[in-house]
Amino acid sequence: MGVRFRGWGIAVPDRIVTNDELSLTLDTSDEWITERTGIRERRIGGTTQSLGALAGRRALEDAKFSPDDIDFLVLATTTPDRIAPATATLIAHELGLSCAAMDVNAACSGFVYALRVAQGLLETGSRRILVIGAEHLSRWVDWSDRNMAVLLADGAGAAVLEYDPQVNDLLSFVLGADGGGADLLTCEHGGFFSMDGREIFRRAVRVVVDSAEKAMQAAGISADDLGLIIPHQANIRIIQAATQRLGIDMERAVVVLDRYGNTSSASIPLAFDDARNNGRIKTGEYALLTGFGAGMTWASAIVRWS
Ligand code: UT7
Repeated sequence: MGVRFRGWGIAVPDRIVTNDELSLTLDTSDEWITERTGIRERRIGGTTQSLGALAGRRALEDAKFSPDDIDFLVLATTTPDRIAPATATLIAHELGLSCAAMDVNAACSGFVYALRVAQGLLETGSRRILVIGAEHLSRWVDWSDRNMAVLLADGAGAAVLEYDPQVNDLLSFVLGADGGGADLLTCEHGGFFSMDGREIFRRAVRVVVDSAEKAMQAAGISADDLGLIIPHQANIRIIQAATQRLGIDMERAVVVLDRYGNTSSASIPLAFDDARNNGRIKTGEYALLTGFGAGMTWASAIVRWS
């Protein structure tokens, strides 16, 4: 019994905001942002619904599935457009789906959490699930706060998963949460994101390395067996530190944060899409998907592309 990836899609706003543009209104510089984060530009605009629906539609087209084929929609988002209803229901309506639809909020670990939820549903009777990671983070950024404004951005990515009795693409998961870190990265109702960047950085490297090692162990593979690491895109230095400790050379890491910034739940599918467009997804190869974020939460998964 297994789960197979059948299609992928992404959506990003047209509007590009460069580091130089942010430097016009903030006490920052392209040099600081590039050196400390790796981010050069980001996309700003849309809504969680509009971006998520477009990515979802593209994933359905990629899988050659119609809306009637889908029996569950799981949306990973930290930035639902409303408190109620779930943004998943708005996206489902826009796509012509009448199946179950719900949001999952695990911050930047959200996409991997949503894959784990989808796996559980497929093992217990669902047949085809649309998993979307979509964020409208710019809505919750104080654009006069250089700490957050240089990092967060908007975007969406989606995958269609199908039950398959013969094939299994999802080999292992290690998820976790530590609510003791809740105040390290937070956004109150009606407020803006704030963060203790240094402490998040420190913990992020630790939880990524720990969860990735456990996920590899559970899948029966070592770091040498990995074709790719597709990490959450928060900071190039976090990716460098984690890959170094895991013994994975940086050439195997997929990096898109230079173009998209930190898009939370959308960052892993955006990175996947980039890897696929560049011919880096190879049949039979293993990949590590790994995320961390507010909570703190963390999530690593080992996949094997069938
Ligand atoms: O999605 C998951 C959650 N988020 C993260 O993963 C973020 C994790 N943390 C980070 O990525 C990094 O900690 C940051 C990029 C947020 C900050 O980088 P840092 O190297 O940890 O810088 P810092 O906070 O230690 O600040 C260094 C200096 C400070 O000035 P002083 O005290 O040395 O004079 C800051 O005030 O840089 C200053 N600074 C800035 N300067 C220009 C902080 N933000 C900026 C800025 N532009 N945007």
